[in-house]
Amino acid sequence: MLIVFIGPPGAGKGTQCKRLIDYLKIPHLSTGDLLREARAKGNTLGQLAAQYMDQGRLVPDPLVLAMVGEKLNEPELAIGCLFDGFPRTVPQARALDEELAKRGTPLNLVLEMRADEQELIDRMLRRAALEKRADDNPQTFAHRLEVYHQQTEPLLDYYRFRGVLAMINGMGTPDEVFGRIQAAVEARRATCH
Ligand code: AP5
Ligand code: MG
Repeated sequence: MLIVFIGPPGAGKGTQCKRLIDYLKIPHLSTGDLLREARAKGNTLGQLAAQYMDQGRLVPDPLVLAMVGEKLNEPELAIGCLFDGFPRTVPQARALDEELAKRGTPLNLVLEMRADEQELIDRMLRRAALEKRADDNPQTFAHRLEVYHQQTEPLLDYYRFRGVLAMINGMGTPDEVFGRIQAAVEARRATCH
């Protein structure tokens, strides 16, 4: 299955993606993780991306698409893939659709993760105390949220129109949220066969 996770920062995309990888035994692609890896290596992409990530802005589409393009050609993706944090803009969604159309494998499901804004902030503050993500601070987080509303939320209509969108309530424990995701995945699987 080809599944996209969309949601504001802190909604639980990464957390739930890990669980779904174990459940479905398919690879995943997280543009946030790839950009942080590039950054840790200090390569040109990483240096450029850091300037945007530290301000809570999206890395420009051409950079993200060049980075993802190589990954989409990996043979293991033929069995399916979980996309975490990609696509994040309408041009990225169009580019993904074109790539998948060439392979004759359209997206099966888009999971929109939702949670209350105060819960998103509380999760970010808890993680900031444990990890050192440069973009986990109140000011940058506020901008990440704004960018989500402005640039990523329009994707929801894009996917709703294609009939692949499912809303997931991201409130509650990670186990409770995963139960809802499993139900949505199984409902879609039942219609795919
Ligand atoms: P990215 O890495 O994608 O981050 P994000 O979406 O902004 O936010 P998070 O990763 O914090 O949220 P999440 O939904 O994954 O939540 P998580 O499971 O971690 O992007 C970072 C930056 O990279 C962007 O701002 C941009 O600059 C750039 N970028 C990335 N992709 C791009 C693209 N396609 N185009 C352009 N630029 C791009 O959970 C958060 C915390 O909450 C964790 O500590 C977790 O343990 C905890 N938690 C999770 N679920 C629960 C729960 N149910 N209850 C309590 N705590 C929970
Ligand atoms: Mg994440």
